[in-house]
Amino acid sequence: MNIGIVVYSHTGNTRLVAGKLKDALAAGGHRVTMGEVTLAEARVQGSRVVKLAPLPTLSGYDALVLGAPVEAFTLSPVMVKALEGAPSLERARVACLVTQGLAYRWLGGNGALRRMRRLCEAKGATVLGGEIVSWAGGGLDGRIARAVETLVQLIASQKA
Ligand SMILES: Cc1cc2nc3c(=O)[nH]c(=O)nc-3n(C[C@H](O)[C@H](O)[C@H](O)COP(=O)(O)O)c2cc1C
Repeated sequence: MNIGIVVYSHTGNTRLVAGKLKDALAAGGHRVTMGEVTLAEARVQGSRVVKLAPLPTLSGYDALVLGAPVEAFTLSPVMVKALEGAPSLERARVACLVTQGLAYRWLGGNGALRRMRRLCEAKGATVLGGEIVSWAGGGLDGRIARAVETLVQLIASQKA
């Protein structure tokens, strides 16, 4: 399959998980392209106003993985803006990845995943599912590995 991974990552956590996912998918024989949502201008601290650089390509893939962090108990405004401004995702099959700093999913991860799903569906995408990785506490490597494994299964179990 031809798989796209597009992430926004401010401090590198989401990028790190996405990189491991890319490696796992490539090891499974898939062609994987990774792109990033980036800012055209540095954000003012605390502000949810963002100015984006042109988005990487979101179309033309058999499956698309979107990844972003939780911010203030919901999806990062950078990914919100990217998805609101994205072209149609009609026929796209999307899996979502969210990373968060706090231990419990209800402290942002669930809400962020829900928001990402709704934004993708509003653009016409079919959302296959999603994973949340919390950075809190020990066992991070195991949590990342399990999330990667689940995402690989989610994507690879779908027919191109
Ligand atoms: C402004 C800001 C707000 C955040 N709010 C939350 C939050 O509400 N809940 C949470 O679990 N983590 C929160 N975090 C932590 C990030 O979600 C977490 O560190 C994430 O893994 C960062 O991903 P990145 O390195 O890809 O940017 C926040 C981080 C920042 C910078």
